[in-house]
Amino acid sequence: MKEVAGKVAFITGGASGMGLGMARVFSKAGMKVVIADVRRDHLDSAMEHFRGAEAGVLPLQVDVADRAAMARAADETERAFGKVHILCNNAGVGIVGPLLDATYDDWDWGLSVNLGGVINGVQTFLPRIRRHGEGGHIVTTASMSGLLGGVAGIYVAAKYAVVGFMETLRPELEPLNIGVSVFCPGLVNTNIHEVEKLRPAKYAHTTYKAPAETRAEFMKAKILPAGMDPLEVGERVLRGIRRNDLYILTHPEYEPGLRERFAAILASFPIEGPPPPARVAAEAVVLRHPMFAAQRDRLLRERAKQATKRRARSAERPRVKSKRTARRVTRRRKRR
Ligand code: NAI
Repeated sequence: MKEVAGKVAFITGGASGMGLGMARVFSKAGMKVVIADVRRDHLDSAMEHFRGAEAGVLPLQVDVADRAAMARAADETERAFGKVHILCNNAGVGIVGPLLDATYDDWDWGLSVNLGGVINGVQTFLPRIRRHGEGGHIVTTASMSGLLGGVAGIYVAAKYAVVGFMETLRPELEPLNIGVSVFCPGLVNTNIHEVEKLRPAKYAHTTYKAPAETRAEFMKAKILPAGMDPLEVGERVLRGIRRNDLYILTHPEYEPGLRERFAAILASFPIEGPPPPARVAAEAVVLRHPMFAAQRDRLLRERAKQATKRRARSAERPRVKSKRTARRVTRRRKRR
């Protein structure tokens, strides 16, 4: 989706944090935007960011775990703005704690939003995007916790699942001209610490306690302010949509950890002779997927080009040793 102006985006969890960042950036890029969120107070305060652009922004109160409500929200979106092209499955709850303490309510809630909400988003909107036939894009907010694990077992289980979900959906939708990305950010300065305000009464039974370093007040005061600005997140997600990136990654500090994880996986293969050809033939469909090689090749080519450009620029730049030399270089440039 290189041309986004005039298109319609439906963003879940769109009234706060990253979803709001995406909504603001998309709106500025000329899109019509639905901010779908379960919190009324977030919807009300979010609208203050769209003064003058209200006509292109529709706030809808909807719980992504509620399938009937999602269908109603999709109908309302189409009535207001017409065809939906971009779906951002972004709503999530940062449920954190040791798995040893988790109850079924903790599991059911965490999975119903962080995984179920994504399933419901795709099930609700994909048939509609297919029907209009103009193409589109689905981007799901996972997390670095969806690639690297971490301290929040229920959250991690859901986020790994949505990474696999998007990786599988992408090749299926490619022939339909519908792009698919999975967005895996690290720390972003949002309201994610307010997680317990969102817990529905039906999932009240919990003994799942966040460790001290992830408790709400501590997170708000000490951790989250160091995170990336949600507006920057919005810009990067829009760029990822335009480029149809499979993975939208924003926090390079996770690279060493990911390398270690991939190396640990690779090192776990047994060292033995070649596998039986019949087995390899039987496994052919899942052995390698051309999508990964294509992504890797495109991105490595781009990186190589960028590196060449950087080298050329720094070779052009004169080495300035002192202020006097700098002045002389500037004078010489002006004369030219
Ligand atoms: P946030 O709390 O500022 O925004 C999330 C929004 O989702 C809130 O407005 C909330 O009301 C809404 N929401 C929660 N449950 C919902 C439901 N059942 N139905 C509809 N809306 C619902 O938090 P943030 O950080 O912007 O979260 C967005 C996504 O980013 C989540 O999926 C989260 O897991 C993910 N994430 C956040 C990171 C961070 O450092 N803040 C890091 C990595 C991923």
